[in-house]
Amino acid sequence: MLRDSFGRVATDLRVSLTDKCNLRCTYCMPPEGLDWLPNAKLLTADEIVRLVTIGVERLGITEVRYTGGEPLLRRELPEIVARTAALRPRPQISLTTNGIGLARLAVPLAQTGLDRVNVSLDTLDPGTFKRLAHRDRHDDVIAGLAAAHDAGLRPVKVNAVLMRGVNDHEAVPLLRFCLEQGYELRFIEQMPLDAQHGWSRDGMVTADEILGLLSDAFDLTPDDLEERGSAPAERFLVDGGPARVGVIGSVTRPFCGACDRVRLTADGQVRNCLFAREESDLKTAMRAGASDDELTERWIAAVAGKRAGHGIDDPSFLQPSRPMSAIGG
Ligand code: 5AD
Ligand code: SF4
Repeated sequence: MLRDSFGRVATDLRVSLTDKCNLRCTYCMPPEGLDWLPNAKLLTADEIVRLVTIGVERLGITEVRYTGGEPLLRRELPEIVARTAALRPRPQISLTTNGIGLARLAVPLAQTGLDRVNVSLDTLDPGTFKRLAHRDRHDDVIAGLAAAHDAGLRPVKVNAVLMRGVNDHEAVPLLRFCLEQGYELRFIEQMPLDAQHGWSRDGMVTADEILGLLSDAFDLTPDDLEERGSAPAERFLVDGGPARVGVIGSVTRPFCGACDRVRLTADGQVRNCLFAREESDLKTAMRAGASDDELTERWIAAVAGKRAGHGIDDPSFLQPSRPMSAIGG
């Protein structure tokens, strides 16, 4: 098992398949993009599947989430999903995506074994989308969401980040849209993870504020039936349910104490936290001929050293040197 010194056990593995993206969301990367990892440094599909297999068969991973960058940009994604679905015990397989390309890929991915998707959608307005993501692709995201729903990748979850003065007037319309379409919306507090270090506490729309905005239009009651457990979202029934909305207060209501995640970057580094300052290099070990036993030992050691929390509120907090796109959501 992947147990840290605080007794937390990691069962949820997030694997970044590429650091590249076809959008440039301001909370993630600058408009000109980043220096992408060279292909030689990216794990191959075989290497990814080897590590995921070790995670599932030896280390108790029960949930595998493929992320990016934008994971749909990785051509081998259907193959990687199919090989993941063939593992025993079969893990839950999900995808965090910006939705571009899902219109085409939702059915094949569902057929190869993908269970669920999380799609990022921060605005209902194509103009705001273009300002926020620096690409005119709003239609593609909306089409991708519908395709995922139709392909049975349910519940389709929608992630929204609100930014003051940009899209914070859209909390209620976004929820209305998701209720109409049958998607489960979750608002995520903006975290200091952007490559250009543009995060500020003032620009962050907090969980309290989001709940305040939603309460003007909806009756929200805490969803007591659903244990929060290790799930970061606090969930609320909307107007008595059964529809729900989630609020993820990553900064102001941290859930580090119940964290069950571990991450693998696109270049094969284990990270025990989004905000970790150290990584463990499985790729170099693997390419130098490490056995499955050796990789297992390294991975266990990497998780054992996990810190208690992200410490965003500590005066000594340092943003991780990698941006979100290179870590995986
Ligand atoms: N803060 C909060 N959420 C973020 N995401 C990307 N960058 C940030 C950030 N700085 C979200 C994306 C996507 C998921 C992977 O994380 O919108 O939904
Ligand atoms: Fe791309 Fe996701 Fe970053 Fe937006 S948040 S630029 S969709 S990786």
